[in-house]
Amino acid sequence: MSEPRKLHVKSYGCQMNAYDSQRMADLLTREGFVETPAAETAELVILNTCHIREKAAEKVYSELGRIRKWKERAEAEGRRMRIVVAGCVAQAEGEEILRRAPLVDIVVGPQNYHRLPALLDRAEREGKLVDTEFAAESKFDALEPAGREAIRRRGVSAFVTVQEGCDKFCTFCVVPYTRGAEISRPVENIIAEVKHLARAGVREVTLIGQNVNAYHGEGPDGRAWTLGRLLHRAVELSGIARIRYTTSHPRDVDDSLLAAHRDLPQLMPHLHLPVQSGSDRMLAAMNRRHERRDYLRTVARMRDARPDMAFSSDFIVGFPGETESDFGQTLSIVEAVGYAGAFSFKYSPRPGTPAAAMADQVPEPVKNERLARLQAAIDRNQAAFNARCLGTTLDVLLEKPGRRPGQLVGRSPYLQPVQIMLPESRIGDIVPVTVTEIGSNSLFGRLAGEASRSDRTASLLAVGS
Ligand code: SAH
Ligand code: SF4
Ligand code: F3S
Repeated sequence: MSEPRKLHVKSYGCQMNAYDSQRMADLLTREGFVETPAAETAELVILNTCHIREKAAEKVYSELGRIRKWKERAEAEGRRMRIVVAGCVAQAEGEEILRRAPLVDIVVGPQNYHRLPALLDRAEREGKLVDTEFAAESKFDALEPAGREAIRRRGVSAFVTVQEGCDKFCTFCVVPYTRGAEISRPVENIIAEVKHLARAGVREVTLIGQNVNAYHGEGPDGRAWTLGRLLHRAVELSGIARIRYTTSHPRDVDDSLLAAHRDLPQLMPHLHLPVQSGSDRMLAAMNRRHERRDYLRTVARMRDARPDMAFSSDFIVGFPGETESDFGQTLSIVEAVGYAGAFSFKYSPRPGTPAAAMADQVPEPVKNERLARLQAAIDRNQAAFNARCLGTTLDVLLEKPGRRPGQLVGRSPYLQPVQIMLPESRIGDIVPVTVTEIGSNSLFGRLAGEASRSDRTASLLAVGS
């Protein structure tokens, strides 16, 4: 018998790409491929790329440089190696990738992964090709669900894409161009997928979309459903223990979403709600289509619905025209919200976006300095949030082995990693954990009700927190 054909998929960027990569692997597994972590021995290498900032996009070409050597070696040894570039760089650059990196065989945009087997056949007959056509329907509804074994291997927490693309056109962002217009999957297809995952042992799903709370998929009644309704239905029908969703836009938080947080204990009290800037002038220039006070009102309404709601955000510093006073507004919104965590980025001009052509680009040293100050503020917020958890008992979903032997790591409702001494047989359980220590990146605890144990202290010392 011949060796199985090996596949390596490398994913960059957001959770949408991570999910897409899994689905490509699932599809190609059905075509007879097996996944390998060793890219240099694979017959098919797929790079699922990200275009969001210049650095992300450049990574692809440095990776292709490495792969070129592997491909040459493979060919010298009489093996084949085919290279596919997928994802947002594929969509944005298309043919240009084949020109810059002649080792690439196929360039495929994010909406066309269901066509991969056909594209591989066509490339075999006709040579290199590019498929960056936009579709009217989500590719996922043309795909079979993942096999049980793959689901188990990926763990007890899984992603499900419910919405793709974006119609918002923030002036800094490539996503509306790389992912196309918003498409929502029908409610019933999503529920079926969540049920399938739950039956295979998944305890938590995160519904994902570039703009997940703009979800407007067709419900069983033939009408467009909101994300809030979808969440209610998913919890009711799927048997899933925990549910989350990301990434939300502040403009699209509606009453049904607030109701879901008020009514559904399975819906975790953590909301990633990127604000980007605290300055109304910057928000307008970014075309975010809301003001600072709208955002703060949304945060307050969420806290009314779910008093322990934790928030995280994305921030951009050094957007064109940002003054020290605008930046001060960003620092002050961090304090006003009190984030559990946040990502912050230096503005990166992206080809074809309106902000790239704006006057008053902010010099790099100013961006660096603001980024450092913002990160320090976020870190202080995060440390304060974590410190408030000390001595409390949190339900933790045990996900995988921790850093030390005998240790497991799980997630609190607020998405904090929690380390606890428990055997591997407990993975997948949701257990009450009393937080006994706060590390720099994780919390440490013991099962609620248990006496304090020295092994916890030992593991803490070993991790060096
Ligand atoms: N759909 C989400 C996030 C999309 S991209 C939203 O609406 O917020 C993830 C984050 O990358 C963004 O929230 C933003 O903070 C950052 N980002 C996007 N374009 C960027 C750019 N040109 N430069 C720097 N950061 C950027
Ligand atoms: Fe990009 Fe704005 Fe759409 Fe988010 S909402 S994906 S930042 S254009
Ligand atoms: Fe990157 Fe595309 Fe996601 S640009 S962040 S991979 S949508």
